[in-house]
This record gives sequence, structure tokens and C-alpha cells, in this order.
Amino acid sequence: MRVEQTRYTERFGSVRINEVQKVLELDSGGDNDLSATERIAVVKLNEEMLRDYERKTLIVIPTKDEKLKLLEGVISGVPHDSVILVMSNSEQKKVDRFRMESDTLEQYCHFTRRKAYIIHQKDPELARALAEAGYKDILGEDGLIKNGKAEGMIASIFIAGMMNHKYIGFIDADNYFPGSVWEYCKCYAAGFAMARSSYAMVRILWRYKPKISEGMYFRKWGRVSEITNRCMNSLLSSRSGFETEIIKTSNAGEHAMSLKLAELLCYASRFAVEPQELISIFESFGGVLPMACKSAAKAGVELFQIETRNPHLHEEKGEEHLKDMLLPGLGTIYHSSLCEDVTKAKIIDELLQYNAIEPDEKPPLPQLCQPPKSINKKKFKAIMEERMGLYSTLEEH
Ligand code: GDD
Ligand code: MG
Repeated sequence: MRVEQTRYTERFGSVRINEVQKVLELDSGGDNDLSATERIAVVKLNEEMLRDYERKTLIVIPTKDEKLKLLEGVISGVPHDSVILVMSNSEQKKVDRFRMESDTLEQYCHFTRRKAYIIHQKDPELARALAEAGYKDILGEDGLIKNGKAEGMIASIFIAGMMNHKYIGFIDADNYFPGSVWEYCKCYAAGFAMARSSYAMVRILWRYKPKISEGMYFRKWGRVSEITNRCMNSLLSSRSGFETEIIKTSNAGEHAMSLKLAELLCYASRFAVEPQELISIFESFGGVLPMACKSAAKAGVELFQIETRNPHLHEEKGEEHLKDMLLPGLGTIYHSSLCEDVTKAKIIDELLQYNAIEPDEKPPLPQLCQPPKSINKKKFKAIMEERMGLYSTLEEH
């Protein structure tokens, strides 16, 4: 794979934010190494190096009642060496869709001889392991993990930690193109290979997000992303005193992190989860507030934003209200202790313009989940380790 060199990096305290890097070539050929001059503009990542990172990465596929064919396609796009974890919150009562997902995964693993796990988000043992390990932020009144992709993501971070994975990457199950899934995973590996710090995050930017309803129009930016990025950049600009447009991936659902970083962040629910990760990084390591972890502050936190070649086409589930998507993300920015009056006013202006709030109304306060590092890992492992065998879909021979 050949990717644009990290030409421009902005610093915010200990955080290094890299400008968007485009994928130039999906397969960069054999041994021909780059010359020193070429290396100024381009990074060539050889297959073996990428594979090495893939081996250390748990790919989590959150799913809730997606078409089986879509889920199967997504799974088939994940590089062979990455272990897959399907975190499912699918129907089990009327139709046992979870059973169907498990069967599909099992059959797939049987033929491809690869390792994957599938677990139900409402698994009582998973909830018990979390509760006993002292992490109740994602548990509902019934004692089980709450609904939501974000809650499934957080639970997966604990599982990745228990399985000693160094990296975790998320890929939605409703993606139509297995080839784009493959490219996301390669970009995750590429980001980690380029990182100089073990506290790193890779966020995917799609070159295009086509809309079939518009006669296959290859749209580049969603309106929600545009607004969220603008407000996130405003927060950074007013803190540093230099205007910036560096953040282009505030809402990136497809993203990956080193476990060391994932365990340090605060998380929010639904559409706020991805912007909140950035806010959490800026609050914890931006140098304005006390640093959250000395070793991470010293090593620096590195953000990569990589633009893929494949367009992103996912399942249309009916028009989400712009307001429902916009409000939670802007809420995380508005209520951050880094957010000053200029950005607050900008957020209110944006929301009023889209009739997302009433005059005098404020965006909602995000419900934050504490960083996963606060858990008693031994207790979690004691309950979950044995059970992971039950969730595995490939019998060891
Ligand atoms: N485990 C789990 N639990 N997965 C869920 C749940 C749940 O309760 N709810 C939804 N999912 C799965 C879906 O099946 C899908 O694979 C993925 O999570 C994303 O859900 P979508 O419903 O497809 O989200 P979206 O397409 O509206 O939003 C995507 O893009 C947003 C930014 O534009 C997601 O990636 C969001 O996280 C992201 O904010
Ligand atoms: Mg989707």
C-alpha cells in the first residue's frame, strides 16, 4: 500500500494531529524500495509489515439485525490475520437472528480456517463480568449492557484487553463493499505502522459516500460531518490562537486505536461517541487541563486521518433526522471544559440554523462513560476467559 506522507502535523499539547493522508495505491508492488526523495512525499508500506499489525488487531463488527449477506460480506473483507469479534445486539426472541449470525460466522470460519468470536451484547455473563470488575457505566436497570453501538464498542475494548490485543478497530456491519472493509483494515494497519507513539488512533475518511436515492450521486461530505468538523476546529483554533481546519473526521464511525489509548478515553453514546473520543483526547492530552496519563503525555498521542479509495456505501435505514445526528456530537463539544464562548456561540448558531434547538435551548449534556482503564482486569478475566471458548466459532484441532 502506498499512502501520502504525513506532510503536515498540528500539535495541541501532547497531541499530534496529522492532516488527511490519501491512499495512493492499494497494492504497492514487490521489493522496489522508495528512494530518499520519493520518501518525502510517499510512504510505502509493505505487505508483511501491514500483516504484522493486522495480527495484533482485533476487528470488532458491531451489528444489530443487519442483513446476513451484508454481515457476511463485511466479515469476508477483514484480512485473514486479524481476529474478528462480532458484537451483536440482534433479535433473539421472535426470530433468532443471533443464532443465524453465529451459524454464518461458524461456516465462514470453517472454510477459511480463521478465528472469530461472536458474542451477544445482552449476554448476562458479560454484564456480570463488567459489574464485578467495577464498570457499571454501560449497564442498564436490568443489569445488562444497554442498547447501542457505542456500548457494544466499550464492551469490546474490555474483551480486546483480556485477549491481549494491541489494537482495536471498528467496522460497521451494514457495509455493501467487502473491498472497502479490506481497505479500512489496511489503513488501520498503515496508521499504526506510521505512528511514532504507542498511543495512536486512525480515523477513516471516505473519498465518497454515494447516495443511491440521488441517482448514485458521489457525495463527499455529509452535512452533519461538515458542521461537526467546523465546530471541532473552532474549539482547537480558539484554544491555540491559530485558525485550523485540520479535523476532517469528527464523525468517523470506522476507526481504530491502540488499546493503550482506548483504555484512557471517556466515551459517549450514539452519534456522540466518535466526536467525544476526540474531545477526550484534547481534554486529556491537550495541555490545557492536567494531563490524564504521564506516559501517554510523554510519548504523545497521534491522530491519523486516512482517505480511502473505495467509496462507502452502507444500508439506508430511512432518513435519520439531521437534528438527532447533529445534536449529540455538538453537545460533546459544547459541554467540554475546553469550549469557550466563541465556539459555544458558533454551535448555537449552527443548531438554530437547522432548527435543531429552540432559541435559549442548549445542546444536551453527554452521558459520559469512564475510561475502561478503571476496571479490575483480573476479575473481568476470571469470568470471561473461560467463556470466550464458547463464543469462538472455530474449533481448535
Ligand atoms: N452491537 C451493537 N449494538 N451494534 C449496533 C447497535 C447495538 O445496539 N445498534 C446498531 N448497531 C450496529 C449496526 O448494525 C451497524 O453495523 C453499526 O452498528 C452502525 O449502526 P448504523 O445504524 O448503521 O449507524 P449509522 O450508519 O447511522 O451511523 C454510522 O455513522 C455515524 C457517523 O456518520 C455509525 O458508524 C455511527 O457510529 C457514526 O456516528
Ligand atoms: Mg450505517
